Amino acid sequence: MIVPLCTLVVLFYTAIALADTITPRAFLGCAQVLNSRIHCYGGATGGSTSSGSYNNPTNDHFYMDLQNFNFNNVSSAANNWTVITGSNGRNLLVANSYHLATTISNKSKFIVYGGLGPGAQNSLLDDPLWMYDPGSNTWSTVPLYGQYTNYGAMVDIGAIQGLWTWGGKINNTAWFAQTQLFTLNYGNTHWDIVNGDPADQKIRLHYTATLGNDGSIYMIGGLEVLELTKDQAPVTADMLATRWYDTTKANWGAQTATVSNGQAVSGRTYHTTTLVPESNSFLVYGGSLFTNDRNQVQTDYAYLYDYVQKIFTPLTFDNNTGAGKRSGHCAVLYNTDIFILFGFNENYQLLNDIHVLDVSTPTKPTWRASTAGHPSSGASSTATSSDTNGPALSSGGIAGIAVGATIFLVGIGGAVLFFFYRKRNQQKEFQMDDPRQQQNATTEYMLPTAFPDHHTASSGNDQTKVDNLSPIFFSDSASRLKPTTDERELASKPHGDE
Ligand SMILES: *[C@@H]1O[C@H](CO)[C@@H](O)[C@H](O)[C@H]1NC(C)=O
Ligand SMILES: *[C@@H]1O[C@H](CO)[C@@H](O)[C@H](O)[C@H]1NC(C)=O
Ligand SMILES: *[C@@H]1O[C@H](CO)[C@@H](O)[C@H](O)[C@H]1NC(C)=O
Ligand SMILES: *[C@@H]1O[C@H](CO)[C@@H](O)[C@H](O)[C@H]1NC(C)=O
Ligand SMILES: *[C@@H]1O[C@H](CO)[C@@H](O)[C@H](O)[C@H]1NC(C)=O
Repeated sequence: MIVPLCTLVVLFYTAIALADTITPRAFLGCAQVLNSRIHCYGGATGGSTSSGSYNNPTNDHFYMDLQNFNFNNVSSAANNWTVITGSNGRNLLVANSYHLATTISNKSKFIVYGGLGPGAQNSLLDDPLWMYDPGSNTWSTVPLYGQYTNYGAMVDIGAIQGLWTWGGKINNTAWFAQTQLFTLNYGNTHWDIVNGDPADQKIRLHYTATLGNDGSIYMIGGLEVLELTKDQAPVTADMLATRWYDTTKANWGAQTATVSNGQAVSGRTYHTTTLVPESNSFLVYGGSLFTNDRNQVQTDYAYLYDYVQKIFTPLTFDNNTGAGKRSGHCAVLYNTDIFILFGFNENYQLLNDIHVLDVSTPTKPTWRASTAGHPSSGASSTATSSDTNGPALSSGGIAGIAVGATIFLVGIGGAVLFFFYRKRNQQKEFQMDDPRQQQNATTEYMLPTAFPDHHTASSGNDQTKVDNLSPIFFSDSASRLKPTTDERELASKPHGDE
């Protein structure tokens, strides 16, 4: 008993000592993992402070435990991250930014997709789809279908164990993606291709895609451009012209929204869209738009969008409360709270602060108590100082050690029991639901050599004929969508550009 006891004591001590402050950054990826954690990876930590273009990507991976989160003192949470340095497969993680992140399998796995990688523009990532299993503390890569996209969006559709991706740019080249959407059945890692909107040949990038309670994915904002082109300049999408994809009927559509008070909703990229629980509304937060070579952070930074009524309602908060105007941030839903994390503000300061919007009353979100104002009021000025070049032990962390040392003596018995019990429980949890086990079970896995016919799609929207009872994404649409010689040529164009 003595040896395991010592090991657990070390574990306990390490957990406290590792409380970290994270270098301010934007364009990272965060998601809720398990029942009580936010995991984040990467992000840009440097770059132009006058134009809002960021570089210096990082490959750090860190999490916040929400189990004992103090919602009465949210600003103190900025010191409470834990950086994970010893995970298996850690070497697979490249320095990255502008990637997408989500969780799959009932929040048991953290998924990261695409990104600029260490070399910024025009560098091809070798394995741009990563999966983290917190149960075994392991990163692995997930196979692709022959290309990947950047600046698109990704949605987990838990009901059919599918990951949905659409839009963006192909392989980090100048080529805009095809109108088709690509889905990964993460049970068997089978990729599938589904026809794009027969009525719209444009794709979006830097937009958001969010699953509503009605089974439709709503695409909001971003830029719009003709598919499979590279010389076109994308135009700012009208925020009121939202597009949708119904995951149960496999059809596409568009809807035109109105604004409750008639004001204009400024176009934006790098915003976030989060489903508000117990409602038919999304929180659309932050965002910016390149105007006159500057990544202008929009001043109308918070809306509720009711996707059934098709109404945008601007939210007004007291000045200097909450996360304020920002872009390139992350928004993570946890129960009835939406965490707004990182990003940059209207002065192009990179941020590492944390704000929490309580959406338990869906029509009236309110900020949780914070001892600091929002970043443009100066709250973040110390956080953005350049002396934090990496995750450093914060004063909070040091205080944590002192407190920890006391608890260490007093509560040692309890801690040992707690960790022992928790570890066992976690192991049980993950043995049941590990996609990698299923991955090994099936070797089948589609590698399309070219893209399906996107032009004939407009003559017959045969996706709607698919049996509604079967998961549409993973029907054998690949065989129905045989590429012709012409398409192969078209699809190969992006190669030539590299
Ligand atoms: C962060 O950690 C400190 C020290 O353990 C604690 O006092 C504080 O409540 C924590 N903050 C939050 C928001 O949980
Ligand atoms: C919030 O937490 C910080 C750090 O744990 C502490 O210094 C501060 O006094 C707390 N503020 C309030 C209002 O409790
Ligand atoms: C997902 O996890 C939650 C909490 O652990 C559990 O209550 C729920 O039944 C799970 N859902 C599925 C589909 O496994
Ligand atoms: C994208 O890159 C992959 C290699 O990761 C390559 O096999 C594929 O042909 C590329 N596709 C396009 C359309 O450029
Ligand atoms: C917030 O600031 C703006 C611009 O500085 C000002 O017009 C507005 O009246 C302020 N609102 C409140 C509630 O103080």
